[in-house]
Amino acid sequence: MRRGRPDGLARPNRRTMLTDPQFDRTRRLASLLAGIELVERHRELLSRRSRRLGIRDAAGLDTLLGAAEAGDAQARRTFLSLLTTKFTEFFRHPAHFAIAAAHARGVVARAGRARLWSAAAATGEEPYSLAIAIVEAFGNCEPPVEVVATDIDREALAVAERGEYAEAAVRAPGPERRARYFEACGEPGRCRITDTIRRLVTIRPLNLIDAEWPVEGPFDVIFCRNVLMYLEAGRRAEAVRRMASLLAPDGLFMLDPVEDPGATGALFAASAPGVFSRRPAARLRLGCSGAAEGRF
Ligand SMILES: C[S@@+](CC[C@H](N)C(=O)[O-])C[C@H]1O[C@@H](n2cnc3c(N)ncnc32)[C@H](O)[C@@H]1O
Repeated sequence: MRRGRPDGLARPNRRTMLTDPQFDRTRRLASLLAGIELVERHRELLSRRSRRLGIRDAAGLDTLLGAAEAGDAQARRTFLSLLTTKFTEFFRHPAHFAIAAAHARGVVARAGRARLWSAAAATGEEPYSLAIAIVEAFGNCEPPVEVVATDIDREALAVAERGEYAEAAVRAPGPERRARYFEACGEPGRCRITDTIRRLVTIRPLNLIDAEWPVEGPFDVIFCRNVLMYLEAGRRAEAVRRMASLLAPDGLFMLDPVEDPGATGALFAASAPGVFSRRPAARLRLGCSGAAEGRF
């Protein structure tokens, strides 16, 4: 049997640095700043990430939490960086990029221009994969297409801005794409996305739980993969409703193949794993429910 402390609090140790009060504060801040729901199993993960960020002990974490609670902008950025899971890769679920690029071609043939949004772009692999797929689908380097890439984590977006990646990370696109869309960046073992691809992508910070989003619809495709699972249920549903309101009438909403729109499923019709079309009535329902319709 495990013996706890008489006060019932978990004892911080090398593996689990966060005390109970610190974990409670972390949960409150995560909810307030990002709508992210933390559960007990995240405690050790956060401890590991804290150490990686150079926070060596409970006092260091107290300092960060105190500053973030007081509204210090840099502390909040560091806290968000600690909080968010940024795993991603080039051409993750490759079929999605082919579907999005083919859809963009159809839109351009009809309307002359297409817009795509990667709403949890992390370090840029997803929006750059989209841009590569589009250049290939259009067969030219200047397609009339914009890819908007947003994320809450400014440090991740700074990586996306630089567009520099380890050679190991660019293996997934394959050697031909490596040769065509990446170039030497002066650092051994690393390479940089070419300007041809970079200039198709507009990068900016956006918090999915903020009242105002610095993007304007309509979008022909919205990638919202592997982020909703971190959000509290109410925030998740609200974010999806707002994204649905920013989709063009025949627009595509992309989730990870194992995700689904959950409570907002009635807004969409699934056409392939992780690929959803907006149902025609989506705008009407959004208007009736008083959600974000009309704000954008
Ligand atoms: C696992 S990554 C997903 C990357 C990419 N979409 C993919 O599927 O490979 C999750 C991303 O969601 C971002 N994120 C978490 N909460 C967010 C929020 N409230 N608003 C915007 N982005 C958020 C994180 O910063 C992180 O970069």
